[in-house]
Amino acid sequence: MAEDWDLGRLREETAGCEQSAFFNNAGASLQPRPVVARVIEHLRLEEQVGGYEAADRVAAELEGVYGSVARLLHCAPQEVGLFENSTRAWEMAFYSLSFAAGDRIVTAANEYASNYIAFLQVAQRTGAEICVVESDSAGEVDLEALRKLLDDRVKLIALTHVPTNGGLVQPAAQVGQLARESGIPFLLDACQSTGQMHLDVDVLGCDMLCATGRKYLRGPRGTGFLYVRSAMLPHMEPPSLDLHAATWVSQGKFEVRNDAKKFETWESAAATRLGFGVAIEYALALGLKKIERRVQDLAARLRERLAEVEGVTVRDLGRVRCGIVTFTCDGHSPGEVMQRLRAKGIAVRTVERSSTRIDMERRGLDELVRASVHYYNTEAEIERLCEALRSLSVKV
Ligand SMILES: Cc1ncc(COP(=O)(O)O)c(C=O)c1O
Repeated sequence: MAEDWDLGRLREETAGCEQSAFFNNAGASLQPRPVVARVIEHLRLEEQVGGYEAADRVAAELEGVYGSVARLLHCAPQEVGLFENSTRAWEMAFYSLSFAAGDRIVTAANEYASNYIAFLQVAQRTGAEICVVESDSAGEVDLEALRKLLDDRVKLIALTHVPTNGGLVQPAAQVGQLARESGIPFLLDACQSTGQMHLDVDVLGCDMLCATGRKYLRGPRGTGFLYVRSAMLPHMEPPSLDLHAATWVSQGKFEVRNDAKKFETWESAAATRLGFGVAIEYALALGLKKIERRVQDLAARLRERLAEVEGVTVRDLGRVRCGIVTFTCDGHSPGEVMQRLRAKGIAVRTVERSSTRIDMERRGLDELVRASVHYYNTEAEIERLCEALRSLSVKV
């Protein structure tokens, strides 16, 4: 499966590959050298000429980042806003919608904690209700149950495409289809799917989508974006406005801009934003469909090999599974497994119950080990990880 990949070059361009077998791509991926170089180059320019003057010199490139996101999602640049992370992007979309007593927010069992906390806050403030759709036998959102729930009380469908705690890929396009048929806004948290899967907002049928730069896109930390469908923009009032989102046209009057930049603030980190643009172009040059195939093949192989290790239980749900692989090891807490692997130069992470509480409680799980693969991982690294887990159980 590695034949049509120039893994040598990709790994050479990924300095971190020399340090560890890196399986924390769902946390923060290893950045490619050109991304880091672009950030540093701009910081050096700022050092020399000043931040505003440096930004003037790269104004076209900074504006081009919107175009890069647009190519990634198959949307228009005017439908893109840039943020410091995925949470802020998601919040700007969510808190731009209005809810009243009796309105319903429909979501699924794998919803991310920060999103669910926002639902709870709005429910407490307004009397809106949160409805969690049943999952089907594969752990995906039950589409028939969802269809039955959709009536005129439902003001939002909010779905996490790929959860932080496993390989599950929600059938977002089918959910989007139902949302369109019912005329209900659809907010997709694509924080974990962006960069590891091919995404097209028209195929997904979402009205709003958010993602972060540092995960599968391999961008710098402190970057993220929001997509808002142009038809949706006039119906959303940003919860806060500054002089970039709106213009103070006379002493008693302001005018809000009409593109997705109305959710942004004026100040931003130009260097990381430029690095983010490079990271997106890097992924686009490789091809998102090609990345998706390799990541899913590698993850499937990892699950297969993990299942052969005594005492290891793979915990992923879903018919379609992505690059996030989760498991538990009999007799060892996830935290201990992470530390023991770290000592052997293998980077994995743990995920706690409170990040995806509904799903974890339903499955009776407290904490999992998460090994998230990217295209630059190798079969040899997968073997190394499994071998290290085998030696873990020997030492019990
Ligand atoms: C599914 C999901 N949504 C949202 C977020 C939040 O992203 P950020 O930390 O960039 O705000 C995460 C982070 O792990 C996530 O896994």
